[in-house]
Amino acid sequence: MNIILLGPPGAGKGTQAKQISDKYNIPHISTGDIFRKNISEKTELGVKAQGYIDKGLLVPDELTIDIVKDRLSNVDCKNGFLLDGFPRTVKQAEALDLFLEDKEHKIDYALLIKVPESSILERMTGRRVCSKCGASYHIKFNPSKVAGKCDICGSDIIQRKDDSEETVQERLDVYSRQTEPLIDYYTSAKILCAVDGTQDIDVVFENVCDILGR
Ligand code: AP5
Ligand code: MG
Ligand code: ZN
Repeated sequence: MNIILLGPPGAGKGTQAKQISDKYNIPHISTGDIFRKNISEKTELGVKAQGYIDKGLLVPDELTIDIVKDRLSNVDCKNGFLLDGFPRTVKQAEALDLFLEDKEHKIDYALLIKVPESSILERMTGRRVCSKCGASYHIKFNPSKVAGKCDICGSDIIQRKDDSEETVQERLDVYSRQTEPLIDYYTSAKILCAVDGTQDIDVVFENVCDILGR
């Protein structure tokens, strides 16, 4: 099963992705996580990406598309994959379609997690993430069992630099300008499915499983 997750920053893409990846046994590929790993390791890609990410802007398509093609060529994607945070522009979506077509594959579901802008700021400023495995927590809605430590791998959990109020606003603007057009793109392709992301995390996941099958 090949799935992409769509939705504004803070919609809960990463949160749902972890559970989907476990249940359906497909790798979770988050371009945001890939960039953050490269930033922390100070690779050439990380250095290039950091300036954009810290400002809340998108990393240029040329850089992003090649990374995803590389990652999808890995053997673990043979039986499916879950893309979180890619594609984010029509150009990325077209490049992905071409790449998959070449391999006689396609996207089965474009899952849109819908959350209104008014709920997002509280989610983002209260978010904490694992510095190692990328798991997402929230100080109020989804705290870790031991304060400051990841439930999954025990590493420290930290606040993302781009989760400040000002940067979140910029990310929301970028989303509506550059990423929202993908809703029409995947509606036309007849693979868009939407879930209400304002419900409890477990209820959102139930809705997702209703769509994907159990
Ligand atoms: P990325 O890391 O993808 O960030 P994003 O899309 O802005 O999304 P987030 O990770 O912020 O939110 P999420 O939807 O995963 O929510 P989460 O589950 O954490 O990208 C970061 C940057 O990298 C971009 O700005 C860009 O610069 C660059 N980039 C990445 N991909 C790119 C691409 N393809 N092209 C170009 N540039 C790219 O949840 C948020 C919070 O809410 C958490 O605290 C969580 O615990 C809580 N929460 C989740 N669900 C619920 C719920 N149902 N109820 C209550 N709280 C909830
Ligand atoms: Mg995320
Ligand atoms: Zn962890």
